Amino acid sequence: MSATASVLFHSSNMTCVRRLEYKRWLLRLSTSTNVKTLLCRQSSPFSTSSRCRTIMPAWVIDKYGSNEVLRFTKNARFPFLRFPNEVIVKVFAAGLNPLDVSMRGGYGAATLSVKRDPLNSMQSGSDFPLILGRDVSGVIIECGMDVKYFRERDEVWAAIPPWKQGSLAEFVVLSANEISHKPKSLSHTEAAAIPYVATTAWSALVNTAGLSKDNCGKKRILILGGSGGVGTFAIQMLKAWGAHVTVTCSQNAEGFVRGLGADHVVDYTAGPVEEPLSALDKFDVILDNVGGDTERWALNLLKPWCGAKYVTLVTPFLHNTDMLGIADGMMQTAATVATKALKHLMKGVHYRWGFFAPSGPALDEVTEMVDAGQIRPVVDETFSFSQVPQAFQKLENGHARGKTVVQVIKEGDDL
Ligand SMILES: NC(=O)c1ccc[n+]([C@@H]2O[C@H](COP(=O)([O-])OP(=O)(O)OC[C@H]3O[C@@H](n4cnc5c(N)ncnc54)[C@H](OP(=O)(O)O)[C@@H]3O)[C@@H](O)[C@H]2O)c1
Repeated sequence: MSATASVLFHSSNMTCVRRLEYKRWLLRLSTSTNVKTLLCRQSSPFSTSSRCRTIMPAWVIDKYGSNEVLRFTKNARFPFLRFPNEVIVKVFAAGLNPLDVSMRGGYGAATLSVKRDPLNSMQSGSDFPLILGRDVSGVIIECGMDVKYFRERDEVWAAIPPWKQGSLAEFVVLSANEISHKPKSLSHTEAAAIPYVATTAWSALVNTAGLSKDNCGKKRILILGGSGGVGTFAIQMLKAWGAHVTVTCSQNAEGFVRGLGADHVVDYTAGPVEEPLSALDKFDVILDNVGGDTERWALNLLKPWCGAKYVTLVTPFLHNTDMLGIADGMMQTAATVATKALKHLMKGVHYRWGFFAPSGPALDEVTEMVDAGQIRPVVDETFSFSQVPQAFQKLENGHARGKTVVQVIKEGDDL
């Protein structure tokens, strides 16, 4: 192997390599005279292995509603590669999130529909049949011709953007930039508990709050709602990076979050948490997984004039666009966030909204932390593929301790 090649394969450089490759691919795609040809090859996959398949088993919805809209079918359309940097993944396990329950009921439909079909070229109702499920762990069965970093039969995991077809199916198509090699130390079922909450926590804490493994050492972080999917991942990541972590959760989750590393726990079921929290030293960062009236008091817990940040994951963005339409909804959203950010800036603290962002490179780093024993999956309950409605029901009932996972294919089954 040449010196250049060995540098490329050095693990610490993998993320940069992936970013470079992706940028190069985007550049080539934008300048290529063959763009149209590439995009039009919808009925002809970029490689050969799955050409004979046209249908697959999946859980779909044909309209928005409650649990009864979930329908199992053996005849869902087999996904195909539309871009040369995509892969087809055979799904071994899928993870569900509160977002899946909301999407089943139509939450975010206005924005997601535009994202799926920006030119509005399809008929109305073209979002259906819709496949839910935001996490996947599985095996690549087919790679597009521009995929360099992955090969067929690689075990991968990913968080699937909500505008794409989900993982409650035997196969799913993803961009190579969204996937990452699955941690070797985890089974597929365990792995499916991590990607969506990990990429959400990463986006909120790293991209929005500016935290990293190099600057967390002396920071005091507060996680509001620490016992759910995002909270349990965030506690472990921040503890691995050396932060001091305070968590709010219900009393019966206290031992559980302490077991994940939380330094201080405040029980929200014992009464308003503002009082016990304001008796503590002030915080550098607050991650809010609860929303509601927390904004009224939480920003007073931050250190003023020190760059301290409050990041909430509970935002009205999709609700606004559902209610007001895309243009008015976005204007309303921009006005709301700008007003709040300005108001709090004048008090010396930063107010931010955090959002899920799909990211293979972020998952590469999570893979390393998992294989180093710094992060473990927190599976609330595992369901079989025939029990998907029960899995949704469980999620809907709330009080999750980590993630709800669906085993789509038994481990060890042949491809
Ligand atoms: N903006 C985005 O892109 C984005 C992405 C992902 C998630 N989210 C949102 O972020 C939130 C968290 O997601 P998740 O996946 O972690 O949800 P989850 O698994 O349902 O966890 C929520 C947790 O919050 C706890 N909780 C409820 N009320 C509380 C309160 N008043 N104080 C403290 N804890 C409380 C619950 O614990 P108990 O059972 O003990 O009550 C539950 O464990 C959800 O609202 C989700 O919609 C947003």
